[in-house]
Amino acid sequence: MPTPTTPPHRPALRYAPIVIDAPTHPASHTPGDAPGHTAPGPDAEGLRGGPLLPGRGVIITIDGPAATGKSSTARELARRLGLQLLNTGRMYRAAAALTIDLGIDPRDAEAVVAAVDRAQLRFDWSQAEPPITAVMPRGGEGVGGVGGVGGVGRVDITPRLQAPDVDGLVSPIAQLPALRRLMIALQQRIAQEHPRLVTEGRDQGSAVFPGAAVKFYVWASAQVRAARRAAQNRASGLPADERAILAEIESRDARDRARPDSPLCVPVGAIVVDTSALSFDQAVGHLERTARHRLGSCAGAGSSAG
Ligand code: DC
Repeated sequence: MPTPTTPPHRPALRYAPIVIDAPTHPASHTPGDAPGHTAPGPDAEGLRGGPLLPGRGVIITIDGPAATGKSSTARELARRLGLQLLNTGRMYRAAAALTIDLGIDPRDAEAVVAAVDRAQLRFDWSQAEPPITAVMPRGGEGVGGVGGVGGVGRVDITPRLQAPDVDGLVSPIAQLPALRRLMIALQQRIAQEHPRLVTEGRDQGSAVFPGAAVKFYVWASAQVRAARRAAQNRASGLPADERAILAEIESRDARDRARPDSPLCVPVGAIVVDTSALSFDQAVGHLERTARHRLGSCAGAGSSAG
């Protein structure tokens, strides 16, 4: 494969062609389903309480502001409950990556949405934390850095999702109402095909799945979130200026709360979990027990604030 030529203003991309294993998981699960069936992965046997309501559709939503550890909490909760994981931030990040890499003006909402639609974003459900893939234009014309693999069609764009340029664009791009409409429709379609889900994002319980079986709003003070993010960054060798991180978290919160479309808010009936003083294990354990209690002792009941 020829080496991709990368314009100097764009980071080198590490897209790789991917072949999606077609049939994903069946839309309904029989009571005998092994946990590994619904949440594949090396740790799946480690379930302590067993899968939640095996054979039934269960949607659990986790909303909350940036840097609350929602993604890792959702991943671990899904594993423990034998559910699949939908990380919707990845979808907005994919939209930002496509916008940058296809050279689209991020203010041109119509062009952004058309490009994301054409890219047919899809998760590879054969993995516990599904990578996200997109169809890139043939030949890679106008695609920064992916000229070498542009002709292959579907590519894994997961490696792009945490890049600084994507991180910088994702919040403004997630404000575009037309893009949100597209993403919401995609997420609802995913839930039809994968009805046993822990889904996390800013709007999952409030706008996308208001009728979810259990809705959580996971929260921590901005200072605690900044300290956690700084520690994570330090561990990964990334910039860890806590004051700068705090400022970024506060401005992202303000933007997410103020946007007119699907603003960040506590969904009606959500269980609010303040993780400021909780360890990761304590937080996940609390969510797991709450979900099991809600759906075990009063199956199908809505949740209430608490
Ligand atoms: O959770 P995250 O940092 O990967 O999310 C990336 C961005 O996408 C963040 O700015 C919030 C936005 N987002 C959103 O608006 N709605 C969602 N359901 C998920 C993420």
